Amino acid sequence: MADKDGFKVAKNYHIDKPFAKQGGFYVKGMQDVDWGMKTRLSSIFQPGSGHTVMLAFDHGYFMGSTSGLERLDVVIPPVIDYIDVLMATRGGLRTCISPSSGKAVALRVSCGSSMLDEDLSHEVIGVSIEDAVRMNASCMAVQTFIGADGEKDSLDNLCKTVDAGLKYGIPTMGVVAVGKQMERTSHFFKLATRILPELGAHIVKTYYCDKFEEITAACPVPIVVAGGKKLPEDEALTMCYRAMAEGAAGVDMGRNIFQSLDPVAMVQAVNMIVHKNATDKEAYEFFLHLKNK
Ligand code: 5RP
Repeated sequence: MADKDGFKVAKNYHIDKPFAKQGGFYVKGMQDVDWGMKTRLSSIFQPGSGHTVMLAFDHGYFMGSTSGLERLDVVIPPVIDYIDVLMATRGGLRTCISPSSGKAVALRVSCGSSMLDEDLSHEVIGVSIEDAVRMNASCMAVQTFIGADGEKDSLDNLCKTVDAGLKYGIPTMGVVAVGKQMERTSHFFKLATRILPELGAHIVKTYYCDKFEEITAACPVPIVVAGGKKLPEDEALTMCYRAMAEGAAGVDMGRNIFQSLDPVAMVQAVNMIVHKNATDKEAYEFFLHLKNK
């Protein structure tokens, strides 16, 4: 193993150069995956824009009923038309969401602790690959905890999910967790967002941070940006705009949509930025226009 103190040369992310291995298929780094996996990736990243709007409503897997998600069956259907991917648990989907929505599914497959646990970093894989196939998952989402007590086990979960998914052509999305023990610096996110694709993740979900363009440049697969805690709508749209301008392939937002003053207006504003190159200002004006109708 290389000496970890031995890299003294300044890093060069070649921000000005597009990803080089891109011919043949439009999703970053996925040129050489199998046909079936490409169809699933195409259901996530829209062929027109190459981008995705994922709606994360899997919070119940460790939080129980979250503010804004007390009733999945009531809250989620009105926003479904404006998203590309439902990111959820198998229980949430089977019980509350119609299978006829036509949307891709990012199936949460890791689990292990509730929010009552001091250390949330110890997860296992709680969904079999057979059930992911039965759910017609377009990808499987695994939480990873770089820098936390459960780091090794979470990377083991990721690797095993990648292996299982490869058998059936289902991509794996590695989710970068932040928590008490983990710093939210670009140094931390750079480490995490590179480890996961090196271990085989096909998509990485992470948080927006400083020097984000270096993070997206150094990550050889698409990055989708998590929303995080609820922000005022204009700030959330600015974060979304900056992330897209700095190389993200989409968003995977939860609370900033379903806890919005107007979730249906907010999801449309996010969609404008992600798919139609709208600026944050244009999207916010559109949000206000819809909200005041
Ligand atoms: C946890 C997750 C959750 O799906 C995600 O955090 C929820 O989205 P948001 O933070 O936007 O409410 O992946 O890491």
